[in-house]
Amino acid sequence: MIRKVCVIGWPIAHSRSPLIHNYWIKTYGIDDAVYERMAVPPGDLTLTLRSLNDWGFIGANVTVPHKEAVFASLMRHDAVAARLKAVNTIVTTPSGLEGRNTDGYGFIANLHDRAPDWQAKDGPAVMIGAGGAARAIAAALESDGAPEIRIVNRTRTRAVALAADLDLASCRIYDWENAPRALEGANLLVNTTTLGMKGEKNVDIPLDALPKAALVTDIVYTPLETGLLKAAAARGNPVVDGLGMLLHQAVPGFEAWFGTRPEVTPELRALVLADMGVSAN
Ligand code: ATR
Repeated sequence: MIRKVCVIGWPIAHSRSPLIHNYWIKTYGIDDAVYERMAVPPGDLTLTLRSLNDWGFIGANVTVPHKEAVFASLMRHDAVAARLKAVNTIVTTPSGLEGRNTDGYGFIANLHDRAPDWQAKDGPAVMIGAGGAARAIAAALESDGAPEIRIVNRTRTRAVALAADLDLASCRIYDWENAPRALEGANLLVNTTTLGMKGEKNVDIPLDALPKAALVTDIVYTPLETGLLKAAAARGNPVVDGLGMLLHQAVPGFEAWFGTRPEVTPELRALVLADMGVSAN
């Protein structure tokens, strides 16, 4: 029987998950597997989850806007999804569908892959933004040993809610105009907002107070070098672009569904960049 997996979202046409997983399916010669897109409007989500196995799917990825709704619909979750109350990966287990969340794993794995000397434990991590992506990243940074998470967000209440919901052990919240203070002594700066994406404004925070050794990264990967990464690189900070987070978050799902731990290779990176219309670097 063909082992089918899909990515569930609304809209879904632009998801690059099929490109990534079908590349690995081909690379590892898994000839009984296929990865598809499934456009699921919010009203059809419950029926889709209930029918997933009957339709031949052994698992799925979940993307916007369904991550929280899938968490609420499933009975079983791993510890990370339970903490985030959001699911991006569904696995069939002997006791039924289990919701997992690999977004934070992808974020951390990308940093360790591209900046092997960087360690979370070496100092405070500064996060711009307090949305869904920020939640996954804050939890992952704390698990990876960050001694303090500093959140800069336009809407303070959202940052307060993030810290409370995740029960972060050490968290400081900064208003946008106080961002330069947040950067003092930081070991990492990450933009988790859509600022810097093609057609949007750039992050406008002055970087003067950021130590030169601090790693700077962005979850935006179109363009690959955002305004923030350009400004950080120009003053000598090490930088890591956001594409690897997308690639690495796919690893645990693929391993759970097909039993092979896939590798994030330069070839995969080039394939996704070509799909985005960007040449490999
Ligand atoms: P996601 O789930 O992708 O993280 P989200 O939950 O909509 O998306 O969160 C978007 C984040 O980007 C929020 O932190 C948002 O700030 P607010 O909480 O103040 O809304 C931030 N954001 C989006 N546009 C922004 C802008 N123009 N300036 C500053 N922050 C912005």
